[in-house]
Amino acid sequence: MRDRIVVTGASGAMGSAATRYLAGKGFHVVMACRNLEKAEAVRKEILSDIPDAEIESRQLDLSSLDSVREFAKGMEGVRISALLNNAGVISRGYSLTRDGLENTFAVNYFGTVLLTRLLLPSFVPEANVVNTVSLTCRFVNITEKSLRPEEGDFSRLGTYARSKLALLHFSQELARRNPALKVNVSDPGIVNSNMISMGKWFDPLADILFRPFCKSPENGVRPALSALLSEMSGKYFVGQRVMEIPGRFIDKKLDKRLWDETSNVIGL
Ligand SMILES: NC(=O)c1ccc[n+]([C@@H]2O[C@H](COP(=O)([O-])OP(=O)(O)OC[C@H]3O[C@@H](n4cnc5c(N)ncnc54)[C@H](OP(=O)(O)O)[C@@H]3O)[C@@H](O)[C@H]2O)c1
Repeated sequence: MRDRIVVTGASGAMGSAATRYLAGKGFHVVMACRNLEKAEAVRKEILSDIPDAEIESRQLDLSSLDSVREFAKGMEGVRISALLNNAGVISRGYSLTRDGLENTFAVNYFGTVLLTRLLLPSFVPEANVVNTVSLTCRFVNITEKSLRPEEGDFSRLGTYARSKLALLHFSQELARRNPALKVNVSDPGIVNSNMISMGKWFDPLADILFRPFCKSPENGVRPALSALLSEMSGKYFVGQRVMEIPGRFIDKKLDKRLWDETSNVIGL
């Protein structure tokens, strides 16, 4: 039986590149996607190029804690070798999910944390977990209000960056609490995908002047793939490099505080 790898947001730019690469390497890939139609189109395209690929798509909306719980329930009894938490969003405005969470934080942080924690019993003992962060993390701090921003606290990039920084702290606490797991973070750099559209008048200009200098999704996802297949843990994968987690992101007290606060929110 092939090793199973779960990829969230597998219908997106880097998620589909990861799925193609991993399926080509002989892994069974579970595409965990919000939009199953989009996932199926990607799956079929990969299968037409790699006919013996083993790929399945399953529904997962990370903005809904119920959807995450349902996905995890569907995975009970399935042995998982690795989880690539790739899905992410930059919300254009402030909105709350049905769970009362700010949308960017719901998807990039709360849903992703809940998914990872619910899948723990399905992991093989030395499973790899990779959380996708962002270079924007270095420009923000986590404060008391960061996890549950109010409308006045919201900014598109600031809230996104804080959600990724919270994920970086989660990764460190997860590794501490599960020493057998290999938990790493990956930073793709700036990648040509839908995510970098700002929904502004200058988008067409940016498409001409900026996009050509961004990494391709295949290139951007490389650090995540290296991390996913790595024997190391607690590292920061960026470009072709593997680094220690930068000192500015190390704060054990904060890791623990966020873990406890988050557990309350997600009901664990
Ligand atoms: N592009 C960059 O420059 C850059 C830089 C640093 C980090 N990143 C991170 O890299 C990861 C991949 O991004 P990308 O550039 O490949 O962007 P993308 O093409 O927009 O892919 C994002 C994926 O996340 C999925 N997603 C969004 N909301 C979701 C939800 N509620 N539930 C489940 N899935 C959801 C999307 O699903 P749909 O297909 O249904 O929309 C899509 O598959 C993200 O975590 C992003 O934050 C990107």
